[in-house]
Amino acid sequence: MTIRPILIAPDKRLKLRSNPVGEVDGEIRTLLDDMLETMYADDGLGLAAIQVGVPKRVVVIDVHGPDDPPAPIKLVNPEILWFSPERMVYEEGCLSFPEYFADVERAAEVRVRYLDENGDAQEIEAKETLAVCLQHEVDHLDGKLFVDHLSLVKRGIIMRKLAKARRAEAKSA
Ligand code: NI
Repeated sequence: MTIRPILIAPDKRLKLRSNPVGEVDGEIRTLLDDMLETMYADDGLGLAAIQVGVPKRVVVIDVHGPDDPPAPIKLVNPEILWFSPERMVYEEGCLSFPEYFADVERAAEVRVRYLDENGDAQEIEAKETLAVCLQHEVDHLDGKLFVDHLSLVKRGIIMRKLAKARRAEAKSA
Protein backbone atom coordinates (compact mmCIF):
# COMPACT_ATOMS: atom_id res chain seq x y z
CA MET A 1 0.00 0.00 0.00
CA THR A 2 1.16 3.51 -0.80
CA ILE A 3 0.37 6.83 0.78
CA ARG A 4 -0.69 9.18 -2.00
CA PRO A 5 -0.47 12.99 -1.86
CA ILE A 6 -3.79 14.65 -0.99
CA LEU A 7 -5.03 17.61 -3.04
CA ILE A 8 -5.51 20.69 -0.89
CA ALA A 9 -8.19 23.31 -1.60
CA PRO A 10 -8.37 25.47 -3.57
CA ASP A 11 -7.40 22.95 -6.24
CA LYS A 12 -9.60 22.96 -9.36
CA ARG A 13 -9.57 19.17 -9.56
CA LEU A 14 -11.61 19.00 -6.35
CA LYS A 15 -14.49 20.58 -8.30
CA LEU A 16 -14.51 17.80 -10.93
CA ARG A 17 -17.37 15.36 -11.24
CA SER A 18 -15.92 11.84 -10.91
CA ASN A 19 -16.69 9.04 -13.38
CA PRO A 20 -18.43 5.77 -12.53
CA VAL A 21 -16.20 2.71 -12.29
CA GLY A 22 -16.93 0.16 -15.01
CA GLU A 23 -15.32 -2.85 -13.39
CA VAL A 24 -13.95 -3.39 -9.88
CA ASP A 25 -10.55 -4.79 -10.87
CA GLY A 26 -7.09 -4.99 -9.36
CA GLU A 27 -6.38 -1.34 -10.17
CA ILE A 28 -9.46 -0.24 -8.21
CA ARG A 29 -8.58 -2.52 -5.28
CA THR A 30 -5.08 -1.04 -5.16
CA LEU A 31 -6.61 2.45 -5.26
CA LEU A 32 -8.93 1.52 -2.36
CA ASP A 33 -6.02 0.17 -0.28
CA ASP A 34 -3.85 3.20 -1.01
CA MET A 35 -6.71 5.53 -0.11
CA LEU A 36 -7.24 3.77 3.23
CA GLU A 37 -3.53 3.98 4.02
CA THR A 38 -3.52 7.67 3.05
CA MET A 39 -6.63 8.37 5.15
CA TYR A 40 -5.30 6.59 8.25
CA ALA A 41 -1.94 8.36 7.94
CA ASP A 42 -3.78 11.69 8.13
CA ASP A 43 -6.31 10.64 10.81
CA GLY A 44 -9.26 11.11 8.47
CA LEU A 45 -12.69 9.48 8.67
CA GLY A 46 -13.26 9.39 4.92
CA LEU A 47 -11.54 10.00 1.61
CA ALA A 48 -12.77 10.24 -1.98
CA ALA A 49 -10.54 9.23 -4.92
CA ILE A 50 -10.57 12.74 -6.40
CA GLN A 51 -8.76 13.89 -3.23
CA VAL A 52 -5.76 11.89 -4.44
CA GLY A 53 -6.32 13.19 -7.98
CA VAL A 54 -8.23 10.20 -9.37
CA PRO A 55 -11.63 11.23 -10.82
CA LYS A 56 -13.36 7.92 -10.16
CA ARG A 57 -16.39 7.22 -7.98
CA VAL A 58 -14.42 5.48 -5.24
CA VAL A 59 -14.63 6.23 -1.50
CA VAL A 60 -13.18 4.85 1.74
CA ILE A 61 -14.61 5.48 5.20
CA ASP A 62 -13.75 4.35 8.72
CA VAL A 63 -15.61 5.88 11.64
CA HIS A 64 -14.59 3.38 14.34
CA GLY A 65 -14.24 4.73 17.86
CA PRO A 66 -10.81 5.32 19.44
CA ASP A 67 -11.05 2.11 21.48
CA ASP A 68 -12.41 -0.10 18.69
CA PRO A 69 -10.49 -1.98 15.98
CA PRO A 70 -10.40 -0.47 12.46
CA ALA A 71 -13.63 -0.91 10.50
CA PRO A 72 -12.87 0.17 6.93
CA ILE A 73 -15.67 0.46 4.40
CA LYS A 74 -14.71 0.49 0.72
CA LEU A 75 -17.33 1.91 -1.61
CA VAL A 76 -17.33 1.91 -5.41
CA ASN A 77 -20.03 3.89 -7.28
CA PRO A 78 -21.86 4.80 -4.04
CA GLU A 79 -25.32 6.23 -4.54
CA ILE A 80 -27.57 7.70 -1.89
CA LEU A 81 -30.99 6.10 -2.35
CA TRP A 82 -32.76 7.82 0.53
CA PHE A 83 -32.23 10.83 2.79
CA SER A 84 -34.21 11.04 6.03
CA PRO A 85 -36.36 14.14 6.36
CA GLU A 86 -34.80 14.67 9.80
CA ARG A 87 -31.68 16.82 9.68
CA MET A 88 -28.67 17.08 11.94
CA VAL A 89 -25.76 19.47 12.40
CA TYR A 90 -22.24 18.06 12.68
CA GLU A 91 -18.88 19.77 12.87
CA GLU A 92 -17.10 18.60 9.72
CA GLY A 93 -13.54 18.69 8.54
CA CYS A 94 -11.92 17.45 5.34
CA LEU A 95 -8.41 16.23 4.54
CA SER A 96 -8.38 18.70 1.62
CA PHE A 97 -9.01 21.55 4.12
CA PRO A 98 -6.39 20.89 6.78
CA GLU A 99 -7.28 22.44 10.12
CA TYR A 100 -10.64 23.86 9.03
CA PHE A 101 -13.85 22.77 10.70
CA ALA A 102 -17.39 24.03 10.32
CA ASP A 103 -20.93 23.06 11.29
CA VAL A 104 -22.80 21.55 8.36
CA GLU A 105 -26.45 20.55 8.29
CA ARG A 106 -27.34 17.32 6.50
CA ALA A 107 -29.87 14.47 6.55
CA ALA A 108 -29.68 12.58 9.86
CA GLU A 109 -29.93 9.18 8.14
CA VAL A 110 -29.26 7.82 4.67
CA ARG A 111 -29.48 4.60 2.75
CA VAL A 112 -26.62 3.98 0.32
CA ARG A 113 -26.06 1.42 -2.43
CA TYR A 114 -22.54 0.66 -3.63
CA LEU A 115 -20.24 -2.02 -4.96
CA ASP A 116 -17.76 -3.57 -2.56
CA GLU A 117 -14.16 -4.43 -3.45
CA ASN A 118 -15.35 -7.69 -5.05
CA GLY A 119 -17.80 -5.87 -7.27
CA ASP A 120 -20.80 -7.15 -5.30
CA ALA A 121 -23.75 -4.82 -4.69
CA GLN A 122 -24.25 -3.80 -1.07
CA GLU A 123 -26.66 -1.54 0.75
CA ILE A 124 -26.22 0.14 4.12
CA GLU A 125 -28.39 2.32 6.29
CA ALA A 126 -26.46 4.79 8.36
CA LYS A 127 -26.99 7.44 10.99
CA GLU A 128 -24.79 9.75 13.06
CA THR A 129 -21.13 10.05 12.02
CA LEU A 130 -21.35 7.41 9.30
CA ALA A 131 -24.36 9.15 7.71
CA VAL A 132 -22.44 12.44 7.72
CA CYS A 133 -19.34 10.83 6.20
CA LEU A 134 -21.29 9.09 3.45
CA GLN A 135 -22.95 12.36 2.40
CA HIS A 136 -19.66 14.28 2.62
CA GLU A 137 -17.79 11.73 0.46
CA VAL A 138 -20.53 11.29 -2.15
CA ASP A 139 -20.56 15.10 -2.44
CA HIS A 140 -16.83 14.93 -3.31
CA LEU A 141 -17.67 12.65 -6.25
CA ASP A 142 -19.91 15.40 -7.61
CA GLY A 143 -17.29 18.10 -7.07
CA LYS A 144 -19.09 19.45 -4.02
CA LEU A 145 -17.11 20.38 -0.91
CA PHE A 146 -18.32 20.74 2.66
CA VAL A 147 -17.71 24.48 2.51
CA ASP A 148 -20.26 24.63 -0.33
CA HIS A 149 -22.88 23.97 2.35
CA LEU A 150 -21.81 27.09 4.27
CA SER A 151 -22.90 30.67 3.75
CA LEU A 152 -21.03 32.63 1.07
CA VAL A 153 -19.39 34.75 3.77
CA LYS A 154 -18.09 31.80 5.81
CA ARG A 155 -16.90 30.01 2.69
CA GLY A 156 -15.16 33.15 1.45
CA ILE A 157 -13.21 33.49 4.70
CA ILE A 158 -11.99 29.88 4.59
CA MET A 159 -11.09 29.93 0.88
CA ARG A 160 -9.16 33.19 1.20
CA LYS A 161 -7.16 31.84 4.15
CA LEU A 162 -6.34 28.67 2.22
CA ALA A 163 -5.31 30.59 -0.89
CA LYS A 164 -3.09 32.83 1.25
CA ALA A 165 -1.47 29.84 2.99
CA ARG A 166 -0.84 28.32 -0.41
CA ARG A 167 0.84 31.44 -1.77
CA ALA A 168 3.02 31.65 1.34
CA GLU A 169 4.00 28.01 0.88
CA ALA A 170 4.83 28.53 -2.81
CA LYS A 171 7.08 31.47 -1.90
CA SER A 172 9.01 29.57 0.75
CA ALA A 173 9.40 26.45 -1.43
NI1 NI B 1 -13.67 15.76 2.44
